[in-house]
Amino acid sequence: MENNKRPDDMARIQTQEQAERFIAEQVEAVKAQVGSKKVLLALSGGVDSSVVAALLIKAIGKNLVCVHVNHGLLRKGEPEQVVAVFRDQMNANLVYVDAVDRFLDKLAGVAEPERKRKIIGAEFIRVFEEEARKQDGIEFLAQGTIYPDILESGPVKAHHNVGGLPDDLQFELVEPLKFLYKDEVRVVGKALGLPDSMVYRQPFPGPGLGVRCLGAITRERLECVRESDAILREEFAKNGLEGKVWQYFTVVPDFKSVGVKGGLRTFEYPVIIRAVNTKDAMTATVEDIPFALLQHITDRITKEVAGVNRVLYDLTPKPCGTIEWE
Ligand code: XMP
Repeated sequence: MENNKRPDDMARIQTQEQAERFIAEQVEAVKAQVGSKKVLLALSGGVDSSVVAALLIKAIGKNLVCVHVNHGLLRKGEPEQVVAVFRDQMNANLVYVDAVDRFLDKLAGVAEPERKRKIIGAEFIRVFEEEARKQDGIEFLAQGTIYPDILESGPVKAHHNVGGLPDDLQFELVEPLKFLYKDEVRVVGKALGLPDSMVYRQPFPGPGLGVRCLGAITRERLECVRESDAILREEFAKNGLEGKVWQYFTVVPDFKSVGVKGGLRTFEYPVIIRAVNTKDAMTATVEDIPFALLQHITDRITKEVAGVNRVLYDLTPKPCGTIEWE
């Protein structure tokens, strides 16, 4: 078993120069480990997998095969950004899998949160496995494991969902970020030329918008979540809250209520806004969003998002609420 302890003398990566040194060392280490063999990577577009991808593209170019699974539960514009950054700008060997219908069909009618999570995780492994089998000559699997993952949950990054590949698809792991903390990963990502919107992304759960579309997911309510989230993010960016608030998103429950629009009675969904600050996600406080901004966001969401007639702001800290609703 390889050593999974960060070397005591490893300096914290804080500057561009330190990041460049780390990148140069890792490029050599990856080349020495994989030679001219092919490496597979599940590229979600999150910070860790994106930084691994950029690093490995630098080291082995097209011998890195990136698989991006669009499960339909990503935020607005995310799958497009993965393609634009990795295929168009970095010239990566990127397999884009449109698995939206597959996931949504499997999730249809399933309301129980743990079952939804299990279905999403299991289907992800299945899609990834199918893509892995289509590729010839893969001998390595790259993972965006970072040091907190090792400290918290052993060697396999649980929420990357690739720990469950069958025995005949067990590849040797390539984990160039495994001794880095999150802030160091971001410095390395910047030095590799990734866009700020990828490097400084707020945390996003593996099951994605699936945990924010409460109850049984429908396409209609999923679009309510995606569109309202996009408006919230746009307004937070415009109003200097991006990068200041730790995590913010919208949630759509599975009930409707009565409202009135243009003199006509409506029966539509509410959208719940959540915006929290935390250090470690174990406890969280609610961001004090200026009331005028909340009103403006409410106005935009109720006017621009089809099927929504109310907006609510969740004032609950953790505890006793969790950050996500599910
Ligand atoms: P809760 O809801 O438990 O969330 O207060 C704490 C933090 O964890 C994130 N979260 C997840 N992250 N996979 C992840 O990678 C998941 O399945 C998952 N569920 C929750 C959540 O967004 C919050 O930042």
